Amino acid sequence: MLVTGGAGFIGSHLVERLLELGANVSVIDTMLCGNKIERLSGHKNLVIHEEDVLNVAAIAPLFKDQDVVFHLAAVVGVEETQDEPVNLLNVEVVGTSNVISLAAKNKVKRFIFASSSEVYGDSLKPMVEEGPFNPKSTYALTKLIGEHFCMAYYQKFGLEYTALRFFNSYGPRQDDRFVLSRFVNRALVGQELYIYGDGNQTRDFTYVQDSVDMSLLAGIMDEGVNQVINFGTGKAVSINTLADMVLSTLNLKGQVNTKYVNYDRRRSLEIEVFNRIADTAKAETLLGYKPVTGLKTGLQKYIDWYKKRA
Ligand SMILES: NC(=O)c1ccc[n+]([C@@H]2O[C@H](COP(=O)([O-])OP(=O)(O)OC[C@H]3O[C@@H](n4cnc5c(N)ncnc54)[C@H](O)[C@@H]3O)[C@@H](O)[C@H]2O)c1
Repeated sequence: MLVTGGAGFIGSHLVERLLELGANVSVIDTMLCGNKIERLSGHKNLVIHEEDVLNVAAIAPLFKDQDVVFHLAAVVGVEETQDEPVNLLNVEVVGTSNVISLAAKNKVKRFIFASSSEVYGDSLKPMVEEGPFNPKSTYALTKLIGEHFCMAYYQKFGLEYTALRFFNSYGPRQDDRFVLSRFVNRALVGQELYIYGDGNQTRDFTYVQDSVDMSLLAGIMDEGVNQVINFGTGKAVSINTLADMVLSTLNLKGQVNTKYVNYDRRRSLEIEVFNRIADTAKAETLLGYKPVTGLKTGLQKYIDWYKKRA
């Protein structure tokens, strides 16, 4: 198995699970966001390549004899994707093109593409895989392009794929570029929790173990072939509710405040998604999977991990 972005947040959980299942795993990652699988280095079934998906010559030999390629390498995070739009386009479009063409050339059995719920933009209704699509950011647009690469490579070269539209995955090892981890990290050091806008934006938070288990099922089950599948829980929670849950769980209500702030240049109003919730029927029907970890439990697991780590 080959995992690009395997040293990142979701990638590190995926790699860990694949190793637990006895797979041989190769990872390609620039480590620009740190190395979240450092403690696994030395594992007899794991080879880590500190490489860039933009460097075709360096990564080409790594695709030989791979069964499944999980393509997770990406520029992630609202600020990062806004600050470096050209890098984002390069990694998401050229990088994905490099990876998928090497997968096709080496006749891998399945190409798994990490897409995103961002492709939908806003919707008050649960988002269904068929759309409508209203990508608000360059990042969202590049995920749609990645999905189109998948379809095109299947049509032209018969490369079987599954595209996974992740909905706000969270859990241990996620860094504070993301709202849930940022709230916990700040609350624990007594810093107020910043909330953009009025805090009524909703998100469908999915515990990372559920995201990973669904990814593995999608990668091995025939029902997942040539499908685009939502990986969410079907439950929407507002950012205000999340802040409240974080403070209650940490027993810090009344001690740590929340503060409403305006959107700014780095986090602009234009690309904000106000309502997001997954329709999970397709994942349930095709993969027989329903996320098992609710937000309350998942949040506690994140906090336990964070405190142990600190
Ligand atoms: N976390 C979420 O909630 C979420 C939601 C939707 C989609 N996704 C997608 O899932 C995938 C994994 O996301 P994540 O949250 O683990 O992010 P992450 O930033 O933790 O992981 C991405 C990894 O890709 C690596 N990378 C970046 N550019 C690279 C390059 N040019 N070559 C090789 N490696 C490179 C980074 O070093 C990092 O380790 C991404 O494709 C992301 O777009 C994640």
